[in-house]
Amino acid sequence: METIRFMLGVNAVELDDVHPTQTLLQFLREERGLTGTKEGCAEGDCGACTVLVGDKTANGIRYRAINACIAFVPALHGKQVVTVEHLSGELSGHSSSADALHGVQRSMVRRHGSQCGFCTPGFVVSIAGLRESNSDPSTTDITDALAGNLCRCTGYGPIIEAAKDDNPGVPERLKNAYERYADSDTLEYHYRGRHFFAPTSLGEACQWLRDHPDACILAGGTDVGLWVTKQRRTLDPILYVGNISALREIQEDGGSLCLGAAVTYADARRALSRWHPEWNDLIRRIGGTQIWNAGTVGGNIANGSPIGDTPPALIAMNATVELTSSKGARTLPLEDFFLDYGKQDRKPDELVTRIRIPEPVNSIRFYKISKRFEQDISAVMAAFAARVDGQRIACIRIAYGGMAAIPKRASELERYLTGRSPSECEDGAIRRAVDADFSPISDLRASKSYRSLVAANLVRKFLIDLEKCDEPHRLFGTREVSFGHR
Ligand code: FES
Ligand code: FES
Repeated sequence: METIRFMLGVNAVELDDVHPTQTLLQFLREERGLTGTKEGCAEGDCGACTVLVGDKTANGIRYRAINACIAFVPALHGKQVVTVEHLSGELSGHSSSADALHGVQRSMVRRHGSQCGFCTPGFVVSIAGLRESNSDPSTTDITDALAGNLCRCTGYGPIIEAAKDDNPGVPERLKNAYERYADSDTLEYHYRGRHFFAPTSLGEACQWLRDHPDACILAGGTDVGLWVTKQRRTLDPILYVGNISALREIQEDGGSLCLGAAVTYADARRALSRWHPEWNDLIRRIGGTQIWNAGTVGGNIANGSPIGDTPPALIAMNATVELTSSKGARTLPLEDFFLDYGKQDRKPDELVTRIRIPEPVNSIRFYKISKRFEQDISAVMAAFAARVDGQRIACIRIAYGGMAAIPKRASELERYLTGRSPSECEDGAIRRAVDADFSPISDLRASKSYRSLVAANLVRKFLIDLEKCDEPHRLFGTREVSFGHR
């Protein structure tokens, strides 16, 4: 198919004249006059641009809140886009705007949840998205759902109260319209010499990548979107992997958990938290709901950032990564995938396709150091996975983010700690081992000396946690792990 097609509210849209990197936000506001969706930051931080995106799944239609400012229009192919105007029914011929209000909007009015109103549509859409999947949310569910929405003037109390009111999610008329909408298949879109390919099978993707090895590979767009909105880069051609069902699978087999590379943080959080509870808090610290709903663990690996939060945790857990090309697949330890700053062991015709995580060892901790609790990038991220026999550390894997040009294991530190009990480990020796392993840089997030000091202190924190634990052979998932301010 060469035409982008999706549903906008209850109306089918077909497009063959939009730029492949036009954002959904631009399209809604500038092409369709749907100005309820606002632009605040244009980088996925403020939530003013929140819309719901419906997807047909084996379990029915699923709606996710995403940031329209960093979603490219062709990536909506086959989906349904729901804006605040569609939720409210103001496009459905109601005689007065009061009649048209969605229940969440009425609650926002009743609870005084809005002042200047700029953030309000984003909050309304996020709350409706929460209500769609959770009819009885706890306060934590609500604050999680709203972590990606910023309000500068009302204060969050009244908004949270509005979210507690018993309101419906997505109106039935929208669901019924999308239910009747024909499914879409592979999109091969051309526009003024630019090319956007969105296959539905891995085979198609590999064949196409063989012929377009210079392609920009797009998954959730939570990083790549900013290359356009902030860096004004031209991306061409683009391979979008988000419609490949094989890459969205989560499987448990042979004592391992296997995540497809296009599994979102939200889906990974559910699976990984069952696999190991420490993941729940870690993924909670990555962006807000809109980012969890779009960003992928595979993307967090493939972009090779030294400050991605999942790679250190996955390296500590001895994960492997699978890369696939038209010639076949290969698997390597994740730590070997990262070669140098901006350089990964991926050939131009290869896709990151799967991440395999072996059964956890018995003592695991992840610690993220950032200035804010939510929506912040790590200054240092540390991950520890140890097997403890009696009081001694029988074996341990430690990996850090933010300490080197790549996510990296701390081999000197591992050597020092192995065979020792926590009380035998000396702070001076720990600090020397950290300094032997890493020579971090100073940047806007932290100084070199702060990073080195905090990396060593986190080792002591882990050892104290081990000692404090009644069952040191079983240390995980029982307490608040993360530093940072809320
Ligand atoms: Fe701020 Fe999109 S405009 S998240
Ligand atoms: Fe003004 Fe939220 S009401 S920013």
